[in-house]
Amino acid sequence: MKIDIATLFPEYFDPLSLSLLGKAQTEGIVQCTTHNLREHALGVHKSVDDTPYGGGAGMVMMAEPIAHTIDPLIQENPTAILIIPTPSGEKFTQPIAEKLSRENHLIFLCGRYEGIDARIPEYYRNVAQIEVLELSLGDYVLAGGEVATLAMIEAITRLLPGVLGNPESLVEESHVLRDEDGQEALVEYPNYTKPPLWRGLEVPEILTSGNHGAIARWRLEQARVRARRLK
Ligand code: ADE
Repeated sequence: MKIDIATLFPEYFDPLSLSLLGKAQTEGIVQCTTHNLREHALGVHKSVDDTPYGGGAGMVMMAEPIAHTIDPLIQENPTAILIIPTPSGEKFTQPIAEKLSRENHLIFLCGRYEGIDARIPEYYRNVAQIEVLELSLGDYVLAGGEVATLAMIEAITRLLPGVLGNPESLVEESHVLRDEDGQEALVEYPNYTKPPLWRGLEVPEILTSGNHGAIARWRLEQARVRARRLK
């Protein structure tokens, strides 16, 4: 999978070379490349932003430096998906991470300030005919799209074959577990490891019983309890 990231702050993405994702890049499973929007800035002042039409606080990222950065990436691969993290986007969920993990090429565009010129998603969706996803990490406002992009890349790439040491861990984790009817996505059940007694707290007895059927039923119930608490 190829991932391009257009950003004013490429250093935000240094952690991509760490841990599982770093290893996946070394092994050629994922290839992440940052592109500095500032290098495509306009004029002697190298501006990337300007005041909003209609007035209001803050600055808006201009369309042209963004287009200069993104156009060559799309020319290289016209089936790439353009992802724009924004608090006004659709909620990024595990099913979206799963869908995106099946793609070959993702382009993330990180906004700063009060966001990007609204003609950018419009142009790439309607004129360039690219799939554009505006995605929100949650109902809160970050200072820019960089942290949201990092979170989404981690959620997507850990689903790629060969990235996780043990692919079994993908099956029973949070948001992937289904109730018997296959409908409700449940959160993960609680996990324990050695020692059996820690600061007066014991591991639930059932987990050391060796009764795999009973353990599975207990875990499902615990996941249900946790899911109900979150509603
Ligand atoms: N940019 C700023 N806030 C964001 C959020 N909550 N999700 C995605 N991108 C963002």
